[in-house]
Amino acid sequence: MSGSYKIIDHKYDVVIVGAGGAGLRATLGMAAAGLSTACVTKVFPTRSHTVAAQGGMSASLGNMGEDHWKWHMYDTVKGSDWLGDQDAIEYMCREAVPAVVELEHFGVPFSRTEEGKIYQRPFGGMTTNFGEGIAQRTCAAADRTGHAILHTLYQQSLKHKAEFFIEYFAIDLIMDDGVCRGVLAWDLATGELHRFRAHMVVFATGGYGRAYFSCTSAHTCTGDGNGMILRAGLPLQDMEFTQFHPTGIYGSGCLITEGVRGEGGYLTNSEGERFMERYAPNAKDLASRDVVSRSMTVEINEGRGVGPEKDHIYLHLEHLGRDVINERLPGIAESAKIFAGVDVAKEPIPVLPTVHYNMGGIPTNYHGEVVTLKDGDPDTIVPGLMAIGEAACVSVHGANRLGSNSLLDIVVFGRAAALRAAEIVKKDSPHKPLSDSETTGPILDRLDRIRHSSGSLPTSEIRIDMQKTMQTHAAVFRDGESMSKGVDKLDTVYRSFDNIGISDRSMVWNTDLVEALELSNLLDQAKVSIEGALTREESRGAHAREDFPDRDDENWHKHTLSWVDRDGNVTLDYRPVHMYTLTDEAEVIPPKKRVY
Ligand code: FUM
Repeated sequence: MSGSYKIIDHKYDVVIVGAGGAGLRATLGMAAAGLSTACVTKVFPTRSHTVAAQGGMSASLGNMGEDHWKWHMYDTVKGSDWLGDQDAIEYMCREAVPAVVELEHFGVPFSRTEEGKIYQRPFGGMTTNFGEGIAQRTCAAADRTGHAILHTLYQQSLKHKAEFFIEYFAIDLIMDDGVCRGVLAWDLATGELHRFRAHMVVFATGGYGRAYFSCTSAHTCTGDGNGMILRAGLPLQDMEFTQFHPTGIYGSGCLITEGVRGEGGYLTNSEGERFMERYAPNAKDLASRDVVSRSMTVEINEGRGVGPEKDHIYLHLEHLGRDVINERLPGIAESAKIFAGVDVAKEPIPVLPTVHYNMGGIPTNYHGEVVTLKDGDPDTIVPGLMAIGEAACVSVHGANRLGSNSLLDIVVFGRAAALRAAEIVKKDSPHKPLSDSETTGPILDRLDRIRHSSGSLPTSEIRIDMQKTMQTHAAVFRDGESMSKGVDKLDTVYRSFDNIGISDRSMVWNTDLVEALELSNLLDQAKVSIEGALTREESRGAHAREDFPDRDDENWHKHTLSWVDRDGNVTLDYRPVHMYTLTDEAEVIPPKKRVY
């Protein structure tokens, strides 16, 4: 079968897969360093999901009050519920300030203070002086910060002559004896297959929110890089930690930025009570997302939800007035009108916690190099392979990410990967000759099998079964009984993929086949997520178990590594959290009791 596909070959020093903020920052950095650089992306770069990021990017610039990277580091470690690697967190919080300044110089149109400085708003969990005050740390371009950053990074990448392969779907890695040598991709417009040889492949393929029924993520967020990693026999890390954003619009899941609460918005229940004052007396509506999402869920479960079904919560910003809304929150005013029919200057927005972010992903060090557990060494580097952004688990977010640390993560680690690649990739060095049949053959056989599958189940049916299973059995609150049922149900769904039927056999814009390949990636990730969650018998960050309500540092202060074989059997192992810092200037922050 594999002989019937014509393959076009390319050779580059580096190939980046994905053109969101992380992918573009790495692309421009590698191209600027003089490496021959290709960026392969399944959507047009400025349609990548970074475009939907609203509230902003954290950095302790101190433009709107005193701030320090050490306070930012403390908040991030605490927000991660002590599962974040502290060397990587120090790196990110220190690099945040130069990263924002660099973006400003690249041309990002940030909002401004009266004095012309970058405008910064408060965000959940961001404090001053190690938890004492509320920090204004989140740099914003109104409520379209991701849009502004993405467009600027694309322009910069073009300026540095990076080559783009747009609407190319990456199918699998080309691996050779544990070393990554490239990636095979499908040009959706022509139907041709392209083999990209590279000394470094960088996955910037984003998260896998679409494993769930209701999420803020675009339909394209199917974690394709994570799927390729699992098929390459490499592990993913901390996949049980899925973040629910407190304020997805009820019904559509569309994001309403935390920036609304940063600007003074607040949540109420059916009694008109500002209930966050009870759950988090200090931080209130600006507590971290896991806390707010759980509190909202408790209110609904105890009968204090709003609406005819009492199944959601109100978010108020009427009191802010039209001027503030038009200047700082124009995007969400439009989304609320379109998706909830609400004029936010007059009425509250109906909201519900909605899947928003995957803390887990491809394990890496703070240079972006992919690591695995080999011969007892949990930090063994996989040569030729990097991962950045939401696809990666550096791990700076641990068990729960703070809002606005994601735009930061993608820019800082996209840049870090470029710096590392410039150090270790020898420009224009020759590529090792490889046997086609051993490296590319199995990839084509799988593609061909799925393309010609003639079972009775359409992709959409298997996908909805998976999404509903994850939504019900790996939810904001979890317990062993429900997750065990979820594992069994998902096993059935997983096996039903053997009975998938593809109706379009062509290779040109075959969206039926694209969706089947995406589903295959999602199913593997759903599997390792729910099995990792069932096994972790504690509550930490976004993983809130009703049957194990406490954090258990003695037994569970460790990262989960997960593999899945081609029959869907999951293997779990663990690696230590980095409880050391990068420099002597930072202090290790040991686990403490949580106070909100
Ligand atoms: O609420 C928001 O604007 C989302 C930000 C984030 O996830 O970092």
